[in-house]
Amino acid sequence: MKHITLHQLEVFEALARSGSFTRAAEELFLTQPTVSQQIKQLTKAVGLPLFEVVGKRLYLTDAGKEVLTVSQGITDRLSQLEMTLADFKGLKQGNLRLAVTTTAKYFVPRLLGAFRQSYPGIKIFLKVTNRQRLLERLTENRDDLYILGQLPSNLDINLCPFLENPLVAIAPHNHPLAQEKNIPLQRLAEEPFIMRESGSGTRMAVENFFAQNKATLKVEMEIGSNEAIKHAIVGGLGVSILSRYVLALEGAKGPLSILDVEGLPLQLHWYVVYPATKQLSIVARTFLEYLLDEGKFLAAQVDLDIRNSNETSTTRQK
Ligand code: PGA
Repeated sequence: MKHITLHQLEVFEALARSGSFTRAAEELFLTQPTVSQQIKQLTKAVGLPLFEVVGKRLYLTDAGKEVLTVSQGITDRLSQLEMTLADFKGLKQGNLRLAVTTTAKYFVPRLLGAFRQSYPGIKIFLKVTNRQRLLERLTENRDDLYILGQLPSNLDINLCPFLENPLVAIAPHNHPLAQEKNIPLQRLAEEPFIMRESGSGTRMAVENFFAQNKATLKVEMEIGSNEAIKHAIVGGLGVSILSRYVLALEGAKGPLSILDVEGLPLQLHWYVVYPATKQLSIVARTFLEYLLDEGKFLAAQVDLDIRNSNETSTTRQK
């Protein structure tokens, strides 16, 4: 037992979580042989098999489940220690672990830049993933703070809304609807629609919106990336409804137009959330305060950029 290392436990937890050597290796930026080697050594130290294979997936044995409980206990105690030590040191150093949904990536990194300038010693880890995976991370207590648009109904969390999140209909500039005003929702529903993947918060909001309005979408294609959807729209494959923040860099100066559809934009919000039982580190508390004050201002700036470029483009079209 004395030969068990923290690295072996980290690899073991990743493998237990994902049930696959490939995914565990990807998650930890290791090669598959390294993952196998670490698990082999841990199994040898424990003296019993930790996993069994059913179909193509790995499952924990009873011994594996015991090891996982102890391992998670050790990981939790170590992150508590890390947090206490960081609090002793104040904000000169420490870690900030953030997980944000794929749509929040259009403004969160910009906010991090200014935060980092104020606290250069803080190391920032940013995980970008879709809503479903973000909620899995939250349940596993893997990050300090989470930023998302669609709140979960079944988790005990603290939440702060900090920014508006308008969802808009997007089409190519040369689309026949691009010049029209007050387009009926039913008319939009006739267009081929490009939908985000299942597990996406955007998709959930769009589906609820159409269900509430008793309209049915003609989904032509599902794509698991906002950027790829933008390119597909430019390629003429269809229209979509996405957060206006996906236009943050190019605005409507790019090849995309925001359509004037009845009932849109959908007025949603961005929230920063964390488990209700979680004790935030001083670094996380400071970032949360920053996000609620300064962040609002900076993100409003992004918002303004989009609005301005949109107006410029409308003028250009006239
Ligand atoms: P998504 O989430 O990137 O999973 O679509 C957006 C959101 O949080 O609303």
